[in-house]
Amino acid sequence: MALKEIAQRPTPMQVMQDAPVIPVIVLQDRAHAVPMARALLAGGIRMLEITLRTPVALACIEAIAKEVPEAVVGAGTLRSAADAQAAAMAGARFAVSPGYTHAVGKACRDLGLALLPGVATGSEIMMAQEDGYTALKFFPAVPAGGAGMLKAWHGPFNDVKFCPTGGITAANAREFLALPNVACVGGSWLTPADALAAQDFTRITRLAQEAAGLPRG
Ligand code: 3PG
Repeated sequence: MALKEIAQRPTPMQVMQDAPVIPVIVLQDRAHAVPMARALLAGGIRMLEITLRTPVALACIEAIAKEVPEAVVGAGTLRSAADAQAAAMAGARFAVSPGYTHAVGKACRDLGLALLPGVATGSEIMMAQEDGYTALKFFPAVPAGGAGMLKAWHGPFNDVKFCPTGGITAANAREFLALPNVACVGGSWLTPADALAAQDFTRITRLAQEAAGLPRG
């Protein structure tokens, strides 16, 4: 399946609408970055969230940005303006944060970096909306209220779209994707630690294919 052309600087909504799932990726080895990105791409997933949780994360973002230009590499676990600067320098084209502060929002806007701010309460949604964000990550989705919470938010926040992340799996993704205020889901199940350690990239492509084929409501 050919992927549509995407801007060098996608909007947050374009990031969320590209595929049903944004893989949340934890890389321990710089050598895994490029073959993993190619494996996900082969399965039809190109928005790749590399979490800034390991010492090699920025090097992995840089390698994917340089060597896999068809992928759109982003940085996850962004918690500060300094993280935003480092991610943009490494070549990240979008960012995902586990929470939201005005400082993180401003840094991303100044850098032209699409941000999916993390929210878990109505007040946090309102704070992100004050700064112009309407494409938000609901984190941690399952522990913080799951599909029921999203249904409740659809009333007062019906102008917001969410990417629920945290506790989403191949088994429960459909339930979330069927909701009218869910654009996509995020999850780590596409890149299991054991598959990366064993360099089983065929398994990662298969998981990506299954995820890319999930129906959206
Ligand atoms: C995370 O921050 O690790 C993400 O929310 C992924 O969560 P998951 O492992 O439950 O998919």
